[in-house]
Amino acid sequence: MLDSLVARLRAVGCVFAEEEAAEIRRVFGTDEQRTEQIVAARTNGIPLEHALGTANFAGVEVAVGPGVFVPRARAEVLVDAAVAARPGARVVVDLGTGSGAIAAALGTRLPRAEIHGVDLDPAALAYARCNAARYGFTVHEGDWWNALPQDLQARVDLAVAYLPHVPTSRLDEIPGDYRTHEPDLAVAGGPDGLDPLRAVLRDLDSWLSPDGVLVTLVAEEQLGAARALGQGRRVALTVGVR
Ligand SMILES: C[S@@+](CC[C@H](N)C(=O)[O-])C[C@H]1O[C@@H](n2cnc3c(N)ncnc32)[C@H](O)[C@@H]1O
Repeated sequence: MLDSLVARLRAVGCVFAEEEAAEIRRVFGTDEQRTEQIVAARTNGIPLEHALGTANFAGVEVAVGPGVFVPRARAEVLVDAAVAARPGARVVVDLGTGSGAIAAALGTRLPRAEIHGVDLDPAALAYARCNAARYGFTVHEGDWWNALPQDLQARVDLAVAYLPHVPTSRLDEIPGDYRTHEPDLAVAGGPDGLDPLRAVLRDLDSWLSPDGVLVTLVAEEQLGAARALGQGRRVALTVGVR
């Protein structure tokens, strides 16, 4: 039965048909009606996670759906790097939290920390609030740091940011299913992809605690430019791993 599901997914163009079939079975078991719905959604190019309504990321399972960025396995290194950078962090902020996947994962790894997620997009915020209720973090709506309550100024020990960082001219390189079903706001980073990082760095110093640090992720080819932007600032850069 699994084999025939793999074959059907492959026939509609799913490159990772085996993994997708296993995930469909994990979520819906042998419920053929739900399975048919997922195959139909995949035939229409809807991302698997949006169709299933759930995504696995860094040891947590979060609710996702139409209009929200799908958490990427390549960003799990960001969670590892952040925890390694400040294992004793008490106040943690996830800038551009999307569904809240990073905030949720950090919550399981830093159980003593108070965790805040920030996003501007109402669709993302709806999922973030749902996942926050499950994983115990707080969600704020607004533009980067401006979304946070003022009493967090100078108290953020760890800021984690998987920022939009795809250069505008390269947006078409994002795999088609994601490109069609995720908003530009979640991925587009301006001409060199680093405009969101510039925006976040502008107010960084007033939000970090004396030992605070920003840990963020860029593409390998952006490392040089991002290092220059972060020069002399409390910034740690990671590169996504596929
Ligand atoms: C690359 S996605 C990362 C989402 C999430 N952290 C994850 O790993 O799944 C970037 C997120 O930044 C949010 N974003 C973009 N511009 C923003 C802004 N000015 N203020 C707050 N959030 C913003 C987007 O809505 C999107 O959810």
